[in-house]
Amino acid sequence: MNYQDSKLWGGRFNKEPDVFFRKFNTSLRVDHRLVIQDIISSIAWSKSLLECEVLTVEEQGRIELELNNLLQEVSRNIEMIQNSLHEDIHSWVESKLIERLGDLGKKLHTGRSRNDQVTTDLKLWCKYAIQILLNHLHHLERAFFIQADLTTDVIMPGYTHLQRAQPITFSYWCLAYIEMFRRDESRLQNALQRLDFSPLGSGALSGTSWCIDRDKLAVRMGFSSATRNGLDSVSDRDYVLEILSAASISMIHLSRFAEDLIFFNSGESNFIELSDTITSGSSLMPQKKNPDALELIRGRSGKVHGLLTSMLILLKGLPLSYNKDMQEDKEILFNAFDIWRDCLNMSIIVLNSMKVKKNTCLYAAKMGYSNATELADYLVNKGVPFRESHYIVGKIVLEAISRKFSLEQLELSVFKKYHVCFEKDVYDVLDLNSCINSRNVKGGVSFQEVKKSLDEVKNYLDERKNIYLSKYMNDITSSE
Ligand code: ARG
Repeated sequence: MNYQDSKLWGGRFNKEPDVFFRKFNTSLRVDHRLVIQDIISSIAWSKSLLECEVLTVEEQGRIELELNNLLQEVSRNIEMIQNSLHEDIHSWVESKLIERLGDLGKKLHTGRSRNDQVTTDLKLWCKYAIQILLNHLHHLERAFFIQADLTTDVIMPGYTHLQRAQPITFSYWCLAYIEMFRRDESRLQNALQRLDFSPLGSGALSGTSWCIDRDKLAVRMGFSSATRNGLDSVSDRDYVLEILSAASISMIHLSRFAEDLIFFNSGESNFIELSDTITSGSSLMPQKKNPDALELIRGRSGKVHGLLTSMLILLKGLPLSYNKDMQEDKEILFNAFDIWRDCLNMSIIVLNSMKVKKNTCLYAAKMGYSNATELADYLVNKGVPFRESHYIVGKIVLEAISRKFSLEQLELSVFKKYHVCFEKDVYDVLDLNSCINSRNVKGGVSFQEVKKSLDEVKNYLDERKNIYLSKYMNDITSSE
């Protein structure tokens, strides 16, 4: 096929496009990923054209059949798209139809513009992508849950300013990340609700003169209903921004997770051991086992933040409605999706394969004076004002440091030197288990609260098992 035949326009032009412009203008390299969505929305559109009597039953049937054939072919051989000369995926699908059906294929674009078509396809793709991401988030939460369940008795220091602060359990640390990823999940679900309206039938910007039942068309494609305003519909890329911002926030969580584990895996803390399968060696230093997978997650998070910024800037000040700048949205979104999905996946593999070292964790919690708050509270219980007890305990810690002792190794006489109220029962309070158990408020680190949280998370995960992907498949395959 020559270039002239691959174009969907041309009547108004006397000259052929510049060869470099053609390359510059094409988006097929990127938007071939919308092929399934373009075929689905085209089939739905053909049914609306039948209702408006633009197509006969027989014509619509032939178009639908040919589009379905095309779907089969591309799923077997995606390269057939990438190697062609077309301007974009919409031109490609339509040209294939014309190639196979002749003049009948030329009827499909009646009343439709690529402006409403591209955003419809992209919204359909986003619905699919969100289900994939929800699924990954679900599996990541499950991986954290498995670790959390195994480590309820692993005491370790919790940090502020990267200094040992108060004792926590490894389980509690896992539960913190489950909270973050649950919020990411709900952000995606909110985005999904807001994007679930079909722009198709908005035409170039002001609707179509054909008698399309847009709500019916929307439901046919799996949307809840049609959008309200055509001008907004073809201009709107909020849903792309929302997914990118959910991705950016989630990548922050992933980068903090990566950083925590890099630190836990370092020779300095030695709380966990990462598996050989996700680490690499040094070309020079034989003793090294580098946490590459985690460093890459940390590194790639910045890329997603850059992609969100690109998209914000792309849209800022852009006049309504469609402008070609918007063609760039797909590369941005697809890149962010790929990075987010891969990093979620990598995190699951890391968590499932790592080992937590109970004894080193406990040793670090003991050596970090992480029970000093308990000592201050002990004096408060004996009637000493908190500020004063805080000062006294600071002095006791100083003495312990100078003698290279933990607090519980100090003799009672030492405690008494600093305050008369200290008695033998101070050692019960300093015990790490009792430090942990004393924080028994909702969301606290006590063993009892952690057990409650684990039960709640287990129910949450079990309720959601398998729903995400199966729901999407129903949406896509349901016809009227
Ligand atoms: N390829 C374009 C995109 O991805 C769609 C075409 C939009 N319409 C137009 N008149 N150029 O954004």
